[in-house]
Amino acid sequence: MYLLFDETYRDITYGKPLPVAATLSDKAISVCSMSKSWGVPGIRIGWLVTKNQSLMDMFIAAKEQIGITGIPGASEKDMQEFYERLKTKYKTYVAPGYWFKMPTNYMRIGFGWTTPEDTQKGYSVFQKQ
Ligand SMILES: Cc1ncc(COP(=O)(O)O)c(C=O)c1O
Repeated sequence: MYLLFDETYRDITYGKPLPVAATLSDKAISVCSMSKSWGVPGIRIGWLVTKNQSLMDMFIAAKEQIGITGIPGASEKDMQEFYERLKTKYKTYVAPGYWFKMPTNYMRIGFGWTTPEDTQKGYSVFQKQ
């Protein structure tokens, strides 16, 4: 079992910030972002810290397998229908572009945490569209 610490507000203090939790145990994972303490919401930069090397290797492998792709020329309405169809008809989830301040015809596809079979099923849905 691991504990995930969201330390996004860690540096907002009048006193000395508490230690980064991940430095205290290899069962602790710390995540942080620049949006709050650094006052740059929307910059979409963050980080993850762990002393656990095998866990870090897994996170890096997962990160490398997250892709952002786009459908050129698709209208806002087309994309809304597309996302709805993916979700309701095919039970396939993607992160629509507006979640990360990109145009709606961009999406993030994550395939680092699924089995190869599920990933293949997800891709086959796109071929049907
Ligand atoms: C506790 C906490 N963690 C993480 C985030 C996400 O930060 P970001 O906007 O950098 O993705 C937020 C944003 O509201 C937050 O309140």
